Amino acid sequence: MESAAAPEPVFSIVPADERHLEAMMAVMHVAFHAHYGEAWSSSQLGATLTLPGCWGRLALVGAQAVGFSLCRAAGPEVELLLIAVTPELHRRGVAGRLLLRVQEDAMARGASELFLEVREDNEPAKYLYDRAGFARIGRRADYYTAKDGSRRAAITMKYSLEQLIG
Ligand SMILES: CC(C)(COP(=O)(O)OP(=O)(O)OC[C@H]1O[C@@H](n2cnc3c(N)ncnc32)[C@H](O)[C@@H]1OP(=O)(O)O)[C@@H](O)C(=O)NCCC(=O)NCCS
Repeated sequence: MESAAAPEPVFSIVPADERHLEAMMAVMHVAFHAHYGEAWSSSQLGATLTLPGCWGRLALVGAQAVGFSLCRAAGPEVELLLIAVTPELHRRGVAGRLLLRVQEDAMARGASELFLEVREDNEPAKYLYDRAGFARIGRRADYYTAKDGSRRAAITMKYSLEQLIG
């Protein structure tokens, strides 16, 4: 008998604020590779969530957090600060849905451009952003420092929100 493909996860995307700090940190701990030191601390994330212009989104399967995003708006620009998905659900479309919601949120706030920085060798994230229509607009050498002291460049990417309308 043929084995059935894994069913698509049914997940929802909800607003996240300081009350969801623990759930977001649980995803943070498992999603980010310790070597690169990219995971934020609980105090960093908690403080950012309270800043004006910052907002989060949580992806839930039932009551279980499986992903999140974090953004900051500054005038007509929005920066995607973080996006992460629990490894068990990678390649199931969770980040793609979160990213679409980020784009919609940014547009609803009247922004015209969405920016982000991604480690140059973070292939899954680069694929994700390429697929979502982000363009590479710059490279910052030695931007990230890994646990062993080695440096990695950051790629700056931009998405023009008018693309969402067209
Ligand atoms: C990057 C990350 C958020 C992607 O999450 P995800 O839920 O697995 O992504 P999705 O399933 O929505 O993938 C959407 C598309 O991105 C691309 N993609 C994502 N992961 C990929 C991988 N490992 N290899 C190739 N393409 C990939 C694919 O085009 C994919 O579409 P497809 O599966 O239909 O081909 C996840 O790998 C992660 O949490 N990484 C650690 C945290 C991180 O590095 N965040 C980014 C910097 S803040």
